[in-house]
Amino acid sequence: MSVILTINGQSIEAEAGKSLFEHAERLGIDVPTSCRKQGKCKECMVEVVEGMEALSPIAEPEQHLKGNFRLSCQTFATASEGHVRCHTMRRGQMRIEHQALGLPVSKKAFELDPSVTRDGDRILIDGVEVERSTGPIHGIAMDLGTTTVVLRLIDLETGELIADTSFENPQRFGGSEVMSRIAYDTDHSGRLLMRTLAGYLSHAIEKFPVDPKTIYEMVVVGNSTMRDLFFRQSVYSIGQTPYRSITEIEMADGKRTTTSLVATGRHSLLPIHPKARVYGAPIISGHVGADAAAGMLAVDLAHEERLVAIMDIGTNTELIVGNRHRILAASCPAGPAFEGGAIACGMPALDGAIEAVTIAENGSFQFSVIGSGRPEGICGSGLVDLLSELLRTGRMNEMGRFEDDIHRIPLYHSNRPQDEGDVFLLESDVNELAQAKGANVAGLHVVFSSYGIDFDDLDVFYLAGGFGRNLNVESSKRIGLVPSLTSSKIVQAGNIAIEGATIALLSRAKRQELEEMVGKVQHCRLETHPDFFNFFVEGCQFKPVEPIPCAN
Ligand code: FES
Repeated sequence: MSVILTINGQSIEAEAGKSLFEHAERLGIDVPTSCRKQGKCKECMVEVVEGMEALSPIAEPEQHLKGNFRLSCQTFATASEGHVRCHTMRRGQMRIEHQALGLPVSKKAFELDPSVTRDGDRILIDGVEVERSTGPIHGIAMDLGTTTVVLRLIDLETGELIADTSFENPQRFGGSEVMSRIAYDTDHSGRLLMRTLAGYLSHAIEKFPVDPKTIYEMVVVGNSTMRDLFFRQSVYSIGQTPYRSITEIEMADGKRTTTSLVATGRHSLLPIHPKARVYGAPIISGHVGADAAAGMLAVDLAHEERLVAIMDIGTNTELIVGNRHRILAASCPAGPAFEGGAIACGMPALDGAIEAVTIAENGSFQFSVIGSGRPEGICGSGLVDLLSELLRTGRMNEMGRFEDDIHRIPLYHSNRPQDEGDVFLLESDVNELAQAKGANVAGLHVVFSSYGIDFDDLDVFYLAGGFGRNLNVESSKRIGLVPSLTSSKIVQAGNIAIEGATIALLSRAKRQELEEMVGKVQHCRLETHPDFFNFFVEGCQFKPVEPIPCAN
């Protein structure tokens, strides 16, 4: 008898005295580390999805970890038999968009005018010399999401994209959504969330095909919590009503004129040029952060006459509605369900994730899997399709109850008991998805009714983010995740936050436009709207989103 370890989908028999890290190395898995298995860097985390009881007790260096996370260099299989399934926090390249789609702003639409310039061998930031070099000048645009981190490396003299990368945010050990991260950061000293992320970012930057010291500027966007954690600000106030970033509070008190943040490369703990400028784009208000602000820049809202909506569905869904004359924004605490979190077989959109599902005439499930391999779980777009198909075929009702009193719907059965298991959907998963959807729908109703419009008044509905890009729109309409608009009005734009960050990196004028635009946005606070609860309850049902009567 022995313990079988399955790490990132690869299996190996556990050897006594060898850590999970060492087994992962044998399997050729690249585990992030900066301390060579000393238990110091905290980067070698794995998430254990099965078999925690077969592992050694939590060691001292792991005390900071919550849930099923372990430090792989500190963890050993100690049982005489069993099966441990776990994965590292970098399971491979997340699916990223190399270019946002269907946007009015392209590189041709603005002048290349970065803050970092060259004068002979002098490298300047806003005219101030920071280095003497005839080498290249690079910048990084970063979208720091609760779940996913995306980086773009840009040549600041040509505006060309040199490389991009993405990975799961390793801060998941502090919780999967912003409120738990805030609680974690408040309860634990030592800025562990920031330090762990900095380790992962440093590895990612060092893998870029340029000398990191030629990176002179970085533009960071992200929701208010992610951005402020990165800049080592206290995030306590974002977790308490009225949910304000410390920068918002300081601005209201007249202590600053913008909510944007600036640090140096040295302060950021990253291997970029120590005098590089790290610019955190301004947030809008509350949980409507710098990623939403960057999205507005990407869709050119400051010059837009048409009535547009931007919906970035995620752990914290952000909604923006308006045009150059008036803009409303809201954030909806949807939770991680549509990103595969809190779902029994949920997973991010990585290789092995079921991303599309149909139910054939004979009732069998047909699905496609990212990477075309064996299914390991189901990601957000697959979940939306699955719900839609269950609804269409009557196997689930609008309330999310399965037919015939069953509570588990199998999608894929593995015949290899020692390998990855079955993929299935539980009725309790549907409850999680219903609540996530309810929050999104409530947000839509609150913002549209506050604006005094209904969905048909829109000219364009941008579905932003990697999840929005890969959704089946018809499935999303059927279950009521997005309004039932004419499909031609719906633009699956992809990651417009990274697009906006890139624009702000390349153009000082656009960055200024961004700073001015956020000051004009009116923030709708969902929790104070009198009809929020009714909208939420209605939105939890799986049926098309109908317009509601205008409030004014
Ligand atoms: S390798 Fe650094 S803590 Fe495990």
